Amino acid sequence: MSIELPPRIPLALLPTPLESCERLSAEWAGPRIWMKRDDLTGFEMSGNKVRKLEFHFAAARDSGADTVITCGAVQSNHCRATVLAAARLGLRSIIYLRHAGEEPPEPTGNYLLSKLGGGEVRLITPSQWAERDALMAEAAAREAAAGHVCWVIPEGASDALGMWGYVLALREVADQAARIPGKPPVIWHAASSGGTTAGIGWAVDRLGLDFPIVACSIGDPAAHIREKVETIWDEAARATGAAVPAMEIHFNDAHIGGGYGVVDDDELAVQAQATALTGVILDPTYTGKALTGLRREIQSGQYSGDDNVVFWHTGGGFAALAHDFSRIVAAEGPASGTA
Ligand SMILES: Cc1ncc(COP(=O)(O)O)c(C=O)c1O
Repeated sequence: MSIELPPRIPLALLPTPLESCERLSAEWAGPRIWMKRDDLTGFEMSGNKVRKLEFHFAAARDSGADTVITCGAVQSNHCRATVLAAARLGLRSIIYLRHAGEEPPEPTGNYLLSKLGGGEVRLITPSQWAERDALMAEAAAREAAAGHVCWVIPEGASDALGMWGYVLALREVADQAARIPGKPPVIWHAASSGGTTAGIGWAVDRLGLDFPIVACSIGDPAAHIREKVETIWDEAARATGAAVPAMEIHFNDAHIGGGYGVVDDDELAVQAQATALTGVILDPTYTGKALTGLRREIQSGQYSGDDNVVFWHTGGGFAALAHDFSRIVAAEGPASGTA
């Protein structure tokens, strides 16, 4: 079935590979694990956000914008990708970053790169974060008064426009998975602002695929993410006249541990083990936590040898450099990953 898409500006290097993780599958003694390498959507714009930004930047261009405004956590992959995409396309960028500490953030990882890319950074407290949409709307109004045209991108580019990035991405996986022998794969991915999940779910439904979807929360309660996804679907259904998807997504919040961005040594050890068995770098906040979740579900007997699981690597490599892996990587070798 063909899916009509809104205009997009190609920014990502596509298609990304779907790789077999044989050593990891053997070590974890569970399903056959495949990795969808959206950490390879590019270097500067690596990760899932660039797929959604392709649609937002097309809309920004079509609206005549010279400035984009968005928001995220201080180590936001989305803000880094937005700033660098804006730099590539010759637009200004203003980013609102949530920061809790009294001291200024360490200039590392995504925060450093957002500054390097020329993003105008505005730090906001967690209580101001609750008003982020209003803050961005006010900023757009102020910029307009100064003669600029702004395009506001919501948190994570997760709305009915950004969602199309993952509709397209799932179509890519469907083509690649057609070559996987055996059962249709479970699509296991990290979920936060919901746009990735919304796109995957929309495409699975429209293409009539039999892919179970697990949205593994990295911080929020499952009900919260479900609500975000349903809001995006409602918005997309209104915009296209199509029906809201009827398929079920498993929203899993059993692996959020200490919450958003909080990672314990067991979680870091699983990630370090996965890196040692695949050569792939994970980030502790998103992909590392989601992969730890998969590991634990395998340990509890959730999947067996004839299951296929596509673990969707949604990026975040730069944030890995802002985390303290050194506390678990012992001098004599990689950690054992016992979580
Ligand atoms: C690396 C990475 N993976 C996964 C996600 C979650 O995607 P979404 O916000 O679309 O749920 C994010 C969101 O910031 C991310 O940066």
